[in-house]
Amino acid sequence: MTELHLWLRHETRTTERRTPVVPADARRLVESGVTLTVEESPQRIFPVEEYEAVGAKPAPAGSWASAPKDAVILGLKELPDEPAELTHRHIFFGHAYKGQPGATDLLRRFGAGGGALLDLEYLVDDTGRRLAAFGFWAGYLGAALAVLQHRGRLVAPLTPTSKEELDGTLRPAAGDAEFTALVIGALGRSGRGARAAFGTAGIEPTSWDLAETQDLDRPALLAHDVLVNCVLATTPVPPFLRAQDLDDPSRRLRTVSDVTCDVGSPLNVLPVYDRTTEWDAPVRQLHERPPLDLIAIDNLPSLLPKESSTDFSAALLPQLLDFGTGGAWGRCLDLFRTKARERGIAVADGESGHV
Ligand SMILES: NC(=O)c1ccc[n+]([C@@H]2O[C@H](COP(=O)([O-])OP(=O)(O)OC[C@H]3O[C@@H](n4cnc5c(N)ncnc54)[C@H](O)[C@@H]3O)[C@@H](O)[C@H]2O)c1
Repeated sequence: MTELHLWLRHETRTTERRTPVVPADARRLVESGVTLTVEESPQRIFPVEEYEAVGAKPAPAGSWASAPKDAVILGLKELPDEPAELTHRHIFFGHAYKGQPGATDLLRRFGAGGGALLDLEYLVDDTGRRLAAFGFWAGYLGAALAVLQHRGRLVAPLTPTSKEELDGTLRPAAGDAEFTALVIGALGRSGRGARAAFGTAGIEPTSWDLAETQDLDRPALLAHDVLVNCVLATTPVPPFLRAQDLDDPSRRLRTVSDVTCDVGSPLNVLPVYDRTTEWDAPVRQLHERPPLDLIAIDNLPSLLPKESSTDFSAALLPQLLDFGTGGAWGRCLDLFRTKARERGIAVADGESGHV
């Protein structure tokens, strides 16, 4: 590996307490010869002192813009609006390749500054499998919130918690009524997490994946009390729920938790709602009689910042130790160039990984 200077930035969003590298893995990076700078951050789940203790250098929040040009800036979610020109290589979830709002602006900022986006969503092995993802905890929380809502125990606003505390509220209590649950996308990362949360709640869910939805048995779907949708749709399929299913008086389904949150996308398998729900008001009633409640939160893993950061960091660490211009990182860089050029944004080729 060439000498790497990683710069872990503060997250702009005040509710974002997660981090892509936890102190234990920071130690491994430093021991491997990586220069690690860690910005101070009031909300990060691990204080900067824990990074300093393992050999990282502290820096003020947001100071990455003046980091040395060869530093690779590491974060999770969106960058602040300034600076207008991005000169560094940035590793984070850019949400810029599927025509999302602000996508072209972000790519233009990279084009203007000569930097590059190495998007964590597209950090994949040579079979296309994601190398680091938050899916398990998204599914765990999606199912946990559905259980709590269904049992009348969901407290709003939601706040970040620990698994121990969450599990304490999830375990069945005397007087809890039995109910049936269905997880779709059950074999994936978030599907596994959803099934684990149901297990903690004392519920054995029905598990469907591709094979079971090929010829969709919608009456069977509607006969469950709770649905947790965890699919990763790549081609359009018939929707799991339609407007007329909400009116169906024989529907047993009362609580839907949509982990996938593809609202507005042509691939959406739950086109019965038009906006996500939020931590302040996590549940929206979609139908009154018979009732149907929706939970559709698009940043679920942030509710378990420690556990989700620890797992993500463990998956990312080997990739960071192997940081370079080939392999998975090379594919990220190629994709960035392709996506930028598709939008008419000039980016240069370069051996060093700098564009
Ligand atoms: N809400 C959140 O906070 C949050 C966080 C992380 C991920 N997500 C989203 O959750 C979704 C799932 O992510 P993942 O990491 O679990 O993906 P994954 O690829 O690990 O699993 C997806 C599963 O869905 C299955 N699937 C695909 N199409 C299906 C269909 N038509 N019927 C039944 N099963 C089908 C696949 O076979 C696979 O087992 C993604 O859309 C992801 O963006 C949401």
